[in-house]
Amino acid sequence: MRIIREIEELKTAREALEGSVGFVPTMGALHQGHLSLIRKAKSENDHLIVSVFVNPTQFLPGEDLEAYPRREEADCRICEVAGVDILFMPEISSVYREDEVTLKAPAYLGYILEGNRRPGHFDGVVRVVMKLFGLTRPTSAYFGKKDAQQLRIIEKMVEDLFLPVRIVPVDTVREEDGLALSSRNVYLGEEERRRALSIARSLKRASRLVMAGELESETIKAQMHEIMKEIEVEYVEIVDRDFRPLQRVEIHNTIILVAARVGKTRLIDNLWL
Ligand code: PAF
Repeated sequence: MRIIREIEELKTAREALEGSVGFVPTMGALHQGHLSLIRKAKSENDHLIVSVFVNPTQFLPGEDLEAYPRREEADCRICEVAGVDILFMPEISSVYREDEVTLKAPAYLGYILEGNRRPGHFDGVVRVVMKLFGLTRPTSAYFGKKDAQQLRIIEKMVEDLFLPVRIVPVDTVREEDGLALSSRNVYLGEEERRRALSIARSLKRASRLVMAGELESETIKAQMHEIMKEIEVEYVEIVDRDFRPLQRVEIHNTIILVAARVGKTRLIDNLWL
C-alpha cells in the first residue's frame, strides 16, 4: 500500500492506474462501517483508493472539528490489511487554496434536515468530494446509507455536473445491539450508549408498523418519539428518495430519518423502505 500525502504524487500515481478504480472517501477513525465500504470497493474494482481527510469546511463553528477522532496509525494498518492500494492523507493546506472556485449544495436538499441544523455543512461536503473526485478520478465511489442526505446530494452532484462516476450506496453497519456505527460513538459514555440504542429501536418499531400495514407518517412518528423519550430528538422525518416529506409511507420510495442528541453527542440514523 502506498501512503500519499502530496497532491502531485497522487496525480502521478493515479495516472499509472489502468482498469477500474474504486474510491472510498473518509474522515478516518475507521470502523467496520468504513470497512464494509472498503470491502465492497475492493471486490468491484481493479484498484482501490481510500482518502482520510478531516475536512474543515464541513464543520460549522463550534462543532467538533478539533475533537474529531484522529487515528492515523490505526487507519493505515486497517487499510493495509484491507488491501487498499493508495491511502491518500493530504494536509488541509494542500487541499484548499486562497479565493478558490467553490461549489454549493443544492438550495433545497442541502439546507433541509441535516442542512437546516448544520447550515453550510453540505457545501463543505460537495466542495471536498468534488476535489477528491478530481484527484482520484474513480470509476465508482462508495458512500454509506447512514448519511442518507449526504449520499443523495453526492448522487445529485454527479447527475447535475455530468460526472463520469458511479455512486454506490452501501448499507449501514450496526453493533449487535443495533447501534449504527459512527466515528462519533466513541464520545458516548456507558449510560449514554444505552439511551442511544432507543434510536435504532424506534426505527425497528417503524419497520414493524409498516410491515403490519401502518402507513400514516404521523402515527409512525408518534410511536418513534415515544420510544426515544430519554434522548433529545432533533427530528424524525419520513421522506421520499428526494427528501420530500411524505404523509404516507410509499414502499420502495421512503426513508425514515432520525437525528438526536445523547448528552453532547449528535447521532443520526435511518431506515430505507
Ligand atoms: O462521510 C464522510 O466521512 C465525509 O462527509 C466525506 C464524504 C468523507 C467528505 O469529507
